[in-house]
Amino acid sequence: MMDEQPCLIVCAPIGRRALALLRQDWEVVELPADPQALASCPPELARRARVIICTITLRVDAAVLAMFPGLSAISNVAVGYDNIDLAAAARAGVAVCHTPGVLDQSVADLAFGLVLCLARGIVRHDRFVRSGQWLRQAAPLMTELAGKTLGIIGMGRIGIQVARRAATFGMDVLYADAREMPAEAGAIAARVDMDTLLQQADFLSIHVPLTPQTKMMIGPRELRRMKPGAYLINTSRGEVIDEPALIAALSEGRLAGAGLDVAWQEPLPPDHALLALDNVVVQPHVGSATRESRHAMIAMAVENARLAMAGRPPLAMVPAQAVSQQ
Ligand code: DGY
Repeated sequence: MMDEQPCLIVCAPIGRRALALLRQDWEVVELPADPQALASCPPELARRARVIICTITLRVDAAVLAMFPGLSAISNVAVGYDNIDLAAAARAGVAVCHTPGVLDQSVADLAFGLVLCLARGIVRHDRFVRSGQWLRQAAPLMTELAGKTLGIIGMGRIGIQVARRAATFGMDVLYADAREMPAEAGAIAARVDMDTLLQQADFLSIHVPLTPQTKMMIGPRELRRMKPGAYLINTSRGEVIDEPALIAALSEGRLAGAGLDVAWQEPLPPDHALLALDNVVVQPHVGSATRESRHAMIAMAVENARLAMAGRPPLAMVPAQAVSQQ
């Protein structure tokens, strides 16, 4: 097996330049960036693969890993890695690489954009004008951000950027996070326990990775604890919220609205219950979808792959403690 020509598999839209760079040194095989691409990879190719570059839409579990016996690394073009079974990868001796740090500004822009959009009804008012309602009545009054409280769940790199934006708008910022926090977090926001955060936040924004600990962390109980009329913003992963419970809270008017870049089902079908709600603003999972972030993510993922192909330590590997947390 080891005498066969090693190759690098790319199942992600990384662009011609990145492909050409990789092809200077390695045989590169492109597969479609669809969820079944790895599971249906021809065995001859799978045997020769040393590194796979992929996106979060590809599920890499123990069965997929077993098909790639010579694999040394997976390079996810994402900061998240919940599409990969980390324990199975560790057992198979496969390093998991990701792209932290280069998408923080873009995701924070979108999260805070959703705060502003919900507070001022920007999307709602657009519909109001387009549907001719403005001809018949005045638009409803909305909410000013200054003096309101933004609660942040998960004060990591992205949470800190969201807090900075909120502080600039005159908001008070609270956060809850189980981890040790850098001093920077304390300088812009006050740390509170989760219950206090839920009860005091006018806007609650979630910035945690999806792990067994965070899955469904916002369920019926947490939604009931939230301030009546509060807004929920999620740019992390859909599964951190109990979606049916959120739909109930929004339909009953217990929450004033939600801004969601992520959902249980992606792509979200047009007949989904969330889309029947006027107080929900949805986005097609585009937190990191700016030219700046995507170029930087691809550059980092390609460099991770190049280093792994050369048998050197990649730039960013998923931290060892993440394996036990998944
Ligand atoms: C990430 O990087 O995890 C994003 O959700 C994918 O764009």
